[in-house]
Amino acid sequence: MELEGFTGRVALVTGGAGGIGATIAKTLRDLGALVAVGDISVPDHEGIMGLSLDVTAEESVRTAVDTVVQELGPPTILVLNAGIFPIEPFEETSLASFDRTLRVNLTGAFLCAREVLPHMREAGYGRVLTLGSSAGITGGSRNVAAYGASKAGVMALTKAIATEYAPHGITANSLAPALINTDMVTGIADMVGRIPVGRLGEAHDVADIAAFLCSTHAGYITGAVVDVNGGFLIH
Ligand SMILES: NC(=O)c1ccc[n+]([C@@H]2O[C@H](COP(=O)([O-])OP(=O)(O)OC[C@H]3O[C@@H](n4cnc5c(N)ncnc54)[C@H](O)[C@@H]3O)[C@@H](O)[C@H]2O)c1
Repeated sequence: MELEGFTGRVALVTGGAGGIGATIAKTLRDLGALVAVGDISVPDHEGIMGLSLDVTAEESVRTAVDTVVQELGPPTILVLNAGIFPIEPFEETSLASFDRTLRVNLTGAFLCAREVLPHMREAGYGRVLTLGSSAGITGGSRNVAAYGASKAGVMALTKAIATEYAPHGITANSLAPALINTDMVTGIADMVGRIPVGRLGEAHDVADIAAFLCSTHAGYITGAVVDVNGGFLIH
């Protein structure tokens, strides 16, 4: 089956300079979408518009979305992927660090969604996909309390969007990956023995399911959290 729903549609991916976001952006581009990627350092991918975007700053989000609307058209696919993953023991987590993690991973998703959803509502169509995490379900491995809390938050935010925007033809879903081989997670190679499929995840494992959820085939899936973890967490 050829995935449909991308030709002529505008997609915005946050945090896509590298890692999972870059692979999702290239996958959507290859399926025919007009793709813009925003990151704190301007991403440079062939055939994709690169934007300077700090998801924590309201003005930066507004400017980036306005630029996409002017240059490519109103986005009807939004992938909220920007994130940080600080590893800190609970008692050594400063308020500033805790706040920062929630600000990037949760508030950033809120700001971007709030800016883009009116365009989707206007179009009567939209696909919102957020990057949650298995840590948002389990609390994560040790020393990632703020991260786990932020990802639980972003998955709940996604469900709230799903309920509120379903009447407008807009779906909102989350992916909950674990142990994907990117710069974000280091020293995970020795975890392979604990992954039932017997290998680490790769960015394309996440991008392929992201593409499906952003396609027209997934119109009856909304408010879902989809595990992408090789069986590491079966619940
Ligand atoms: N790699 C994994 O195993 C894994 C597991 C679960 C969830 N995730 C989630 O997937 C997403 C992508 O992770 P990744 O592994 O590709 O990591 P990554 O570090 O390669 O990508 C994260 C991107 O977010 C960008 N970013 C950070 N702060 C930003 C800000 N304020 N504004 C805009 N962009 C910002 C970074 O510059 C980076 O390019 C993240 O949300 C992460 O939490 C990853």
